[in-house]
Amino acid sequence: MSARAETLRRTGGREVKSIVFDAETLERRVTELGSAITAAYPDGDLLVLGLLKGSFIFVSDLVRRIERPLQIDFIVASSYGAGTISSGQVKLLYDPETKLEGKHILLVEDIVDSGNTLRRLAALLEDRHPKSLSVCALLDKVEKHEPIPHLRFVGFEAPPAFLVGYGLDHAEDYRHLPFIADLM
Ligand code: IMP
Ligand code: MG
Repeated sequence: MSARAETLRRTGGREVKSIVFDAETLERRVTELGSAITAAYPDGDLLVLGLLKGSFIFVSDLVRRIERPLQIDFIVASSYGAGTISSGQVKLLYDPETKLEGKHILLVEDIVDSGNTLRRLAALLEDRHPKSLSVCALLDKVEKHEPIPHLRFVGFEAPPAFLVGYGLDHAEDYRHLPFIADLM
């Protein structure tokens, strides 16, 4: 089967514009990120916190490339109030079971766009007094935001397009694509 036919089978016949990062490219970069993270944390407790749902595939691949002890938990966040207006508030719908105090926290995000999600979550997590707080994002739309202090590990600079696959969705579809595609 051709690559295009295979993609159409996965999407139910809906075309994607182009593949931006194929599965091999993702695998190679995730391996590099794992090595960088291993080197960055020589000691102390490390808790990898995946931000659901978008990071679920990235987290599962990334932790298998980190060669040191760690624990894994997830957070589910939701913004209060009117959808697109920045209220400056974020609520945790699922809170990690383990305490964060005294641990190195590595928050894992699928993609940074305006950076609002990360800024709010970082402030909320800092209140729990971790030993350190850093963010690892697979994709970063660097042109869309000012520098974000906690953003320490970035997989790829992303084009200003709408990307799907490898965990990223459009209205909950396309998360299962094994590559990242530009939807339109
Ligand atoms: P921010 O708060 O503006 O940085 O938005 C980040 C969140 O928006 C991510 O966690 C994604 O869920 C979503 N998002 C931003 N850009 C894209 C995209 O290109 N494709 C899919 N989701 C995106
Ligand atoms: Mg999303």
